[in-house]
Amino acid sequence: MQFFIDTANLKQIEEAKDLGILDGVTTNPSLMAKEGITGQDRIYGHYKAICDLVDGPVSAEVISTDYEGMLREAHQLVDIAPNIVIKIPMIKEGIKAIHSLSQEGIPTNCTLVFSAGQAILAAKAGATFLSPFIGRIDDTNWDGIALIREIAEVYAIQGFDTLILAASIRNARHIVESAKAGADVVTCPLPSILGLLNHPLTDIGLAKFLSDHQKAESKA
Ligand code: E4P
Repeated sequence: MQFFIDTANLKQIEEAKDLGILDGVTTNPSLMAKEGITGQDRIYGHYKAICDLVDGPVSAEVISTDYEGMLREAHQLVDIAPNIVIKIPMIKEGIKAIHSLSQEGIPTNCTLVFSAGQAILAAKAGATFLSPFIGRIDDTNWDGIALIREIAEVYAIQGFDTLILAASIRNARHIVESAKAGADVVTCPLPSILGLLNHPLTDIGLAKFLSDHQKAESKA
């Protein structure tokens, strides 16, 4: 399973990269706004800075909602760096755009996916990645992980090669459950990635090893 970080914050991207486990980055317009990045030149410059930091796929989202606008943005975005992936919303015009971009060999990430039906359409259109938002589904008292499982089952039966990118991850447990449910990629905020490190028995065990070592050394 690949690990992407879901942020536009360069420091957090560097911290995840330093762990040696980072395969890529996803962003969205809300994450760019959170970093205070505004205006096309600054936004594109920021994508370039992210692409310079990581070798793997970097999802950059279009803000147009019409087919022509999405294609125009996609062609501008792919010129930024060879690892840019065009993130396109799961709407009718988006499916048309994903299909055209796939014909051109431009990688896409179909975002805002909340059902297996949407997942089938995106795969038929040729999406490279599919982003089901599991945390937002959980927020509505449905089961986000069950959706990952259902899409993984459908894709396996039908032989679709679109990669399932579990998005809207809220905690470390979501990462483990996504892995079990068949996600090919998880995109996570940094605290969820770091949350995988935590176990109280690790801390207790390490403290005991170090104190036993110190005691033995002081007696020697
Ligand atoms: C995915 O690519 C999205 O950027 C992201 O995972 C959405 O997460 P949120 O529901 O925490 O905003």
